[in-house]
Amino acid sequence: MEKKRFLITGGCGFIGTQVLRELLETPHEIFVIDDLSSGEWTSTSETRVALKVCDIRSEEATKYILEVSPHYVIHLAAQVDVPTSMARQDIDADTNIMGTINMLLACKKIANFERFIFASSAAVYGNSETSLLTELSDAKPRSPYGMSKLVCEQYLSLNKTMDDFPYCALRFANVYGKKNRLGKDVISCFGNKLKNQEAPILFGSGEQTRDFIFVDDVATALILATEIKKSGIYNIATNEQTSINEVFQHVSNILQISITPKRMAPRLGDVYNSCLSNQKFKDATGWEPKYTLQEGLERMYNLITT
Ligand SMILES: NC(=O)c1ccc[n+]([C@@H]2O[C@H](COP(=O)([O-])OP(=O)(O)OC[C@H]3O[C@@H](n4cnc5c(N)ncnc54)[C@H](O)[C@@H]3O)[C@@H](O)[C@H]2O)c1
Repeated sequence: MEKKRFLITGGCGFIGTQVLRELLETPHEIFVIDDLSSGEWTSTSETRVALKVCDIRSEEATKYILEVSPHYVIHLAAQVDVPTSMARQDIDADTNIMGTINMLLACKKIANFERFIFASSAAVYGNSETSLLTELSDAKPRSPYGMSKLVCEQYLSLNKTMDDFPYCALRFANVYGKKNRLGKDVISCFGNKLKNQEAPILFGSGEQTRDFIFVDDVATALILATEIKKSGIYNIATNEQTSINEVFQHVSNILQISITPKRMAPRLGDVYNSCLSNQKFKDATGWEPKYTLQEGLERMYNLITT
């Protein structure tokens, strides 16, 4: 395997940490930019990984990218919280849009640059009319967060058209797995509340669906995407639709804790159904999700450690 330089923005976050774990199994050189606003520098990050603590919007980050001159950038750093994006559109857009533009402009100056992998989201689709969303389905975000991801995809596509800038944007479904900090996603919230013997909060009827993908499958996809020769957008998902009520049952069964959830009104900006087709990425790379929801949850809660 030829040794390459990988730079991961947001490499200390939830998905980034797993990307580092997988890259550490390879001979590649690994560099990280993270401002540690929510991420943590953990022991798994090891000495083989060089960390630059700075903001992706800063000149310091630009300088570092030029100094490292990576072959690949996996761009994960972002404002990731939908409710925060509703409350502070300005902060969300500044971090997600301006931060991404800053990173892509730096990469354009690198002579041997091979590909920019962008962490996009199923949030770009908004409320789906179709049962299985493909990359050609309408993108109508229902939150500033989803809009920021869509705008970044369009900047990447524009730069491909203008200057042949090589990129892949991966639209992740709902990613779950073990987190270093208290997770705000639905699976982490259910688990945390149940473990504290408190009633988990369930928004809306609970019949709304999501496509849940295990973090290890997402990390594998991010690294594989560097091998794709064609720029474009790819869904990273399981093709499976699971209702929030079903997820609640799964988590309760795995933890063997039974508490009646507290039901509340649906949240502003939340989409009703979300299920994505992963066919395009499968065809391009041969990737398949390895873990079912049950298997992913068992790993998340340490019932299986191998
Ligand atoms: N987790 C999911 O379900 C999911 C779904 C779809 C898309 N995504 C996208 O995947 C990416 C990674 O998500 P995650 O769940 O690992 O999030 P995370 O919050 O765990 O990680 C983000 C990392 O970026 C860092 N960061 C934030 N703002 C920064 C800035 N301005 N400069 C430098 N570093 C900064 C944080 O410290 C953190 O380490 C994000 O772009 C997110 O939008 C995540």
